[in-house]
Amino acid sequence: MQIMHITVEHGDITKVQTDAICLGIFQGVQRPGGAAGAVDRALDGALSEILSDGDFSCKKGEIFWLRTHGKIGAKRVLLVGLGPAEKFSADVVREVSAAAVRAAKALSELTTIAHGAGIGGLDPQTAAQATVEGTLLGLYRFEKFKKPEEPSKLERLRLVEHNAEKLEQLKVGAQRGQIIAESVCFARDLANEPGQSLPPQELARRAQNLAQELGLHCEVFDEKALEQLGMGGILAVGKGSDEPPRLIVLEYNLTKDSKPIVLVGKGITFDSGGISIKPREGLEAMKYDMSGAAAVLGAMRAIALLKLPISAVGLIAAAENLPSGKALKPGDVIRISNGKTVEVTNTDAEGRLVLADALVYAQRYNPQAVIDLATLTGACTIALGKEAAGLFSNDETLAQKIQKAAQQTGERVWPLPMYDEYKEIIKSEIADIKNSANKGPQAGAAVGAIFLREFVNYPWAHLDIAGVAYDVESRLYYAKQGATGYGVRLLTQLLQDWK
Ligand code: BES
Ligand code: MN
Ligand code: ZN
Repeated sequence: MQIMHITVEHGDITKVQTDAICLGIFQGVQRPGGAAGAVDRALDGALSEILSDGDFSCKKGEIFWLRTHGKIGAKRVLLVGLGPAEKFSADVVREVSAAAVRAAKALSELTTIAHGAGIGGLDPQTAAQATVEGTLLGLYRFEKFKKPEEPSKLERLRLVEHNAEKLEQLKVGAQRGQIIAESVCFARDLANEPGQSLPPQELARRAQNLAQELGLHCEVFDEKALEQLGMGGILAVGKGSDEPPRLIVLEYNLTKDSKPIVLVGKGITFDSGGISIKPREGLEAMKYDMSGAAAVLGAMRAIALLKLPISAVGLIAAAENLPSGKALKPGDVIRISNGKTVEVTNTDAEGRLVLADALVYAQRYNPQAVIDLATLTGACTIALGKEAAGLFSNDETLAQKIQKAAQQTGERVWPLPMYDEYKEIIKSEIADIKNSANKGPQAGAAVGAIFLREFVNYPWAHLDIAGVAYDVESRLYYAKQGATGYGVRLLTQLLQDWK
């Protein structure tokens, strides 16, 4: 991850000595106001001229550079389009900040205003947080196996504000934004890593390292311990692979009688489908099948660094789903740790098997709420595309809290139903339940959720993130390809506002 020094400074944007200052302008504006207005006057109307001549149309994320010839402290002005004012939001700030920083990668420092803190109508803290998040998320690249051809030279981001009263809030927002964005990048790095170098044991080691850095309690259950716990779901999925499965537990701020919020992540480090093997096209993307786990680790990191006044537990059910002579077979019946038996009609519906054991394990915490994140079904992507995660919940209050956090972070969720009638689809003749329909793909995402619901006895929400976890092209702060880190910002916001 790129290390960036971020400062918030009191000053006059026209006087700062810097490589470039970044200013956002709404579509349709002819005479800029606020900070851009001050720069425009100092440049003898150069900005107004560019706008009224139509050189720059201020579409969201559009870029225009100009030199200042010593008329102001900055050498260059980097104009970024904010799009239409009526569509402005904190998420637009993230997007334009990402677009701006990509354009400024060759400089060693970029100075900016917190977009939206003035004329945009956002409170200064939100504006600073979104500006910093967008900047760091926009710069992100997965660099483990290849150094970028045009590496970023940026070392410093300076937020400048002339109204002293806003400074404190800007600082809080900038610091939060940095912690959260770096946690998203941490999650992206994990999810982008191939199955080969991140099998369950290695995922567990990464969690242990993280816990050590943050002072969290961490426990890892190996095959023997899983056996003792009766975790037939995790063991069954893992047994086809030479890489043994793990249950990873992270605890933050837990006391004897605290009722924590438990975050559960699907951690299939590679999903071949098992004996019910997947077609070869696009199979490489199944390295992302631990994106839920990555989001949980990223969120635990952010929560701990922000020192949020809550108790939280992260549970990760990690396994590699491969076919072999030892693999789980269609038709096999397994037993989950609460004693329920499952007829496995499709070994590719493995996520729900490992999650079932983790959800049962969550019961021992007497949780206030449990939220699981899983790349669970292709059907969810068919339903919602790449624009929202599917939200399933047995608790209206919890669902509403998640929807609010989604709105604030731009990590969208959309509620989907869990009708009791769907249970018919996974009725088994020989076991308590089966893991997939053998009648075709009706309501696939809901059937996955209905299966999971069998293992919870607390307020619970399930987020199917199959569509949103990777390769999302519609947001400027995502790389066109690769992990998005979806869920880290949503969960952190949820727990920050938890009441
Ligand atoms: N990991 C997949 C779901 C998935 C598919 C995530 C595509 C991201 C992109 C999951 O384990 C799976 O294979 N689900 C099956 C369920 C079915 C067998 C009931 C699916 O979606 O086909
Ligand atoms: Mn699968
Ligand atoms: Zn899977």
